[in-house]
Amino acid sequence: MKSSLLALSLSFLFFTLLTKPLLGRSDPLLDLDGDKVEAGSAYYIVSIIIGAGGGGLTLSPNRNGSCPLDVTQHSSDLLRGYPMFFYPINYSNENRGYVHESMDVNIQFYANIISCNEPMVWKVDNYDEKRGAWFITTNGVVGNPGPQTLPNWFKFVKIGVGINAYKIVHCPSDVSESIVHLCSDVGINYVESARRLALTSTQPFRLGFIKAQVLPS
Ligand SMILES: *[C@@H]1O[C@H](CO)[C@@H](O)[C@H](O)[C@H]1NC(C)=O
Ligand SMILES: *[C@@H]1O[C@H](CO)[C@@H](O)[C@H](O)[C@H]1NC(C)=O
Repeated sequence: MKSSLLALSLSFLFFTLLTKPLLGRSDPLLDLDGDKVEAGSAYYIVSIIIGAGGGGLTLSPNRNGSCPLDVTQHSSDLLRGYPMFFYPINYSNENRGYVHESMDVNIQFYANIISCNEPMVWKVDNYDEKRGAWFITTNGVVGNPGPQTLPNWFKFVKIGVGINAYKIVHCPSDVSESIVHLCSDVGINYVESARRLALTSTQPFRLGFIKAQVLPS
C-alpha cells in the first residue's frame, strides 16, 4: 500500500512536470458570450440543449435525503441554478488567470444560502452499490493535489464546433497510468427525486457557461 502510494505520488509529480509546458497551449474555455472563463469568478453551468435539455446545475439532498448535498440539474431550462467557481491546480488570488480546456480544476458552488455546514466543493462519491453509480456529491476540498484528493478534480472538454459547448470529465489518469480506466464523462442518466450527476460511459452532460454578474446573497 505504502509503496503504491509512493508510486502514485511519483507518477503524479512526473505528470505535472511533463505537462507543464503543455498547459499554456490548450485553449481557454469560452462562455456563451464568447468570453474567456476566468478562474475564481462566478459562473452558472447550464444545459447547452434548449428546452428539453433542462436548466442549470444546483444542489439537492443526497440519495438518503441528507447531507452532503448531491450535484443535480434543474429540470426547467428557466432556472440557472447556483453560480460556481473554478479553481485550477495552484490557483491563488494573486495569480488567477483563465481556465483552460483539459486543466484539472476544483469546482465550488457559491452557496451561502444552503445550510449543510460543508464546503460545496464537487467530489465523486464512493460507489453507490444500491444504484450502481458514482454520483457527484459535495464535501470535497479545494487544492492539495495528490492521490488523496483524486475524487475532487474535474476537467472541461470542448465538444462540437462553432458553439462553446463542453462536457465534464473526471480523469484521474492524469495522476497515474495505472488507474486509467477510471477516466469517465459526467452525465445525468439517473433520476431519483432529482436529476443527479454521475459518472457515465454513454451520455455526457453537454453544457455552457454563463457569467454570473451579481452573486445572490
Ligand atoms: C445512505 O445511508 C446508508 C446507510 O446508513 C449508507 O451506507 C450510505 O452510504 C448512505 N448514502 C449516502 C449517499 O449518503
Ligand atoms: C504547482 O506548483 C508546484 C509548486 O510551485 C509546482 O511544482 C507544480 O508544477 C505546479 N503545478 C502545475 C500544474 O502548475
